[in-house]
Order: sequence, then structure tokens, then C-alpha cells
Amino acid sequence: MERLQKVIAESGITSRRKAEELIIDGKVKVNGELVTELGTKVSEKDMIEVNGKVLEKEVKEYYLLNKPRGVISASSDDKGRRVVVDLIPTSVRLFPVGRLDYDTTGVLLLTNDGEFSNIMTHPKNQIDKVYLAKLEGIIKGDQINQLKNGVVIDGVKVSASRVKLKKTDLEKNTSMVEITIHEGKNHQVKKMFEAVGFKVLKLTRERVGIFTTLGLQSGEYRKLSPKEVAIVYSLKK
Ligand code: URA
Repeated sequence: MERLQKVIAESGITSRRKAEELIIDGKVKVNGELVTELGTKVSEKDMIEVNGKVLEKEVKEYYLLNKPRGVISASSDDKGRRVVVDLIPTSVRLFPVGRLDYDTTGVLLLTNDGEFSNIMTHPKNQIDKVYLAKLEGIIKGDQINQLKNGVVIDGVKVSASRVKLKKTDLEKNTSMVEITIHEGKNHQVKKMFEAVGFKVLKLTRERVGIFTTLGLQSGEYRKLSPKEVAIVYSLKK
């Protein structure tokens, strides 16, 4: 069972806030009965009418985008900047599953399925988010261990489940490090490296769970297969 305003908003006809207004204003019926209570719960089987029109359920869509640099991970931007959903032509209201920074590239999932998004992002499901970071400076074993043991960012202790030094360039004074985390806090990878004294010069997300950018050029996308979606649902703990 879901809250009525959530179901109306997820059908794609309006926002959650507007849906609440419609309910309060007496514009919504459930199984032919007027409902003005915001907390009302409904199921798949209930027939919902908004302004006299039966609510169609929006089909669920799932995409994997190889996010390019210079695009915002959002559904819209009030300053009119390019957002990731602009890269995928569809009539459903997509949103990104988690966020990549403006200058971060790589694996980004997009969907209109809230539950799918929750499964992928909730730390309890332990889904790998694997990043390749180019750092300014040469990282040492001690600092790698610190990342594994946990560092404090924004007052919260977070740790990497794996950290692998891929390459160092003594001449250019840079390190390439693969880091795996299970959460998705704001700027988490950059802040974790900052906590051990390194600036991230470049960041790419190489993998999220079973998803990689294999076969996708920067800016390209593909639909997930029903099997891939089922695998994600099977990961729910
Ligand atoms: N961590 C970051 O710092 N930036 C991202 O875009 C993703 C994870």
C-alpha cells in the first residue's frame, strides 16, 4: 500500500505537492468515493480518478547512461543548465539513481521507479560503487589503509570496502586509485581523499553493482533488460 499523493505524483501527471493540493481540494476519487485525507493508502487494485479522469499507471523505464563531464545529475535545473535526463528522450519522468558531480563521468542509472532507486542506493544492500580517481600526489600504503579503516567526512565515519592503487606517475606527481564504497554521500569520494590529504583531479564511476559502461561511449545510454531489473530487485535485503 502506498500513500495516495505519492501514487498520483508517480503516475507522472503532477508533483507530490500539487497532488496533495488536488486531494485537499476534493479533486480526487478512489473507487468512486471522494477522498480528501492526505494519509489515505491505496494499492495497485484501487481505481484513482483525478479531476474526473482515471489515473493511468506510468510504465517503468530503466536506463544506463555513460555520463559525460559538464552535465548535472538532476531531472531539472532552475538555472537552465544541461541535466542528465536531457540526454535520454522519453515521455516518462526519469530521475537519476544517486548523483554524480558535474565533472564526474561514468555509470549513472536513470529510472522512474522509486523502489529500484532505493534498492540501488541504500547502504544496507551493500551494492558496490566503484570509482577510478586520479589524485594529485603519490598515495602511500598508510593512507590507503586509513581509507579502508574509515575517515570522518562531515562528522560521519565512512570507509572504503576496497582500495587499489593502479598506477603512480612520479614525473607528473599523480596516482590512479580504484576505490569501492557502498554509500553515496555528497562528494563522498572527493571528501574521503581530501581527508587523507589528496585532491581528486578526475573521477569516473566504473561500476555500480552489475552495471558498467561497457559498449557505451561518453554520453551514450542503453535500456536495462528485464533480467537486469530482476537482478536488482533480488538484491533487496
Ligand atoms: N563521490 C564524489 O566525490 N563525486 C561523485 O560524483 C561521486 C562520488
